[in-house]
Amino acid sequence: MWGGRYKLGPAEIMEKINASIGFDRRLYAQDIAGSIAHCDMLVAQGIVSAKDGRAIKRGLAKVREEIESGRFKFSTKLEDIHFNVEGRLTELIGPAGGRVHTARSRNDQIALDVRLWVRDTIDRLEPMLRDLQAALIDRADEHAATIMPGFTHLQTAQPITFGHHLMAYVEMFGRDRSRLSDCRVRLNESPLGAAALAGSPHPIDPRKTAKALSFDRPMANSLDAVSDRDYVVEFIAAASLTAVHLSRLSEEIVLWCSAPFRFISLSDAFTTGSSIMPQKRNPDAAELTRAKVGRIVGAFVALCTILKGLPLTYGKDMQEDKEPLFDAADSLELGIAAMAGMVRDLKANPERMRAVASADYSVATDLADWLVRKVGLPFRQAHHVTGRLVGIAADKGVDLEKLSLAEMQAVEPKIDRSVYRVLTVEASVNARKNIGGTAPANVVRAVAEARRRFLGADKRAGR
Ligand code: ARG
Repeated sequence: MWGGRYKLGPAEIMEKINASIGFDRRLYAQDIAGSIAHCDMLVAQGIVSAKDGRAIKRGLAKVREEIESGRFKFSTKLEDIHFNVEGRLTELIGPAGGRVHTARSRNDQIALDVRLWVRDTIDRLEPMLRDLQAALIDRADEHAATIMPGFTHLQTAQPITFGHHLMAYVEMFGRDRSRLSDCRVRLNESPLGAAALAGSPHPIDPRKTAKALSFDRPMANSLDAVSDRDYVVEFIAAASLTAVHLSRLSEEIVLWCSAPFRFISLSDAFTTGSSIMPQKRNPDAAELTRAKVGRIVGAFVALCTILKGLPLTYGKDMQEDKEPLFDAADSLELGIAAMAGMVRDLKANPERMRAVASADYSVATDLADWLVRKVGLPFRQAHHVTGRLVGIAADKGVDLEKLSLAEMQAVEPKIDRSVYRVLTVEASVNARKNIGGTAPANVVRAVAEARRRFLGADKRAGR
């Protein structure tokens, strides 16, 4: 591989630590597409003959076919995907195969391959997130008026609607989609032409390769072109936050499925049994999705740590970006798909949700707000009066609506009968009709708007 200067082969351990073919073979499609675009440019610029160009392209197509049919023999001796492809190309077409690497280095080649791979991955993940949003929106539509307890500190706070709760995640995944699209916009420049680091003395045209590979433009600085891995970090950062969101929803699913909650159940399709306890139904898919975030955030930390302190330009350290990148992308893809499956699968238990939402004085705030509106108390005083009434009800072990008018008037004489109308969970959610509030009517509207913002054929990432 290293030509004239090298007489001895590498030490066994050198070959082992150096080789990346075990994982970078995943870049074969991007590597070959890049070589085809580069070859076309070399021919167009008169650097390689049309005849050699045709042979190179035919050979590359054959290599791709061999890889895709599983017949290709990857070799650790040939270190990485670039040498594996070029080596086989030369076997197939002879010395002309050696011309494809004119005006190119593995440094701009790997920068290109990873960029294309991240771009392809974003283009696959973005519609998957859209599909997850579609699943959440459909379930929110169905449960626009289903009442559940809303929590802060995981303590019953106020009644909310299940649809409203699900729509909160639609917003989160919408932001995740837009972060991925932003990352795509910034990464979409071609590093080809930078060669090893300083550019090439051949009369190349980097604009041609950029255009052929659907990049917006060639990168402006050759040193940056071979050393920049910002797009890998940005992608994994966006993936990390998406994974955090998936993890939060997973945790809710795990809680909601558990016997003390019983808000939802998952079918056989998304649970597993126990080898010892025949009654068990474990939400493994949710637990695994909850945990995947660990690997993805781990990849983020790995990448930042690998890149920090690296002097310009290329360093072999950069080879260590691939396994974390691939693992983060694979984990995220699995998590998104599993979550969409669970959201579609889950069966809500509205009676149980409503019962829990009605307990624990969840409408106390509605009583305080009523005292402000009808009696004209300052909110702080209304809060105090309500607190006393909750105390009395709690001592008696009853709900607020079970207190008699006389008992209420003993605390605040101006309370009248109309107070009972605000003491139901339905009245509580229906009263919250302001922008962003939980009222069923709002959920219906939010669902229609979200379909337009996030699912419209012409819309990308809610913009
Ligand atoms: N396998 C290398 C990587 O992943 C490719 C580039 C190697 N370049 C070099 N000059 N050794 O980064």
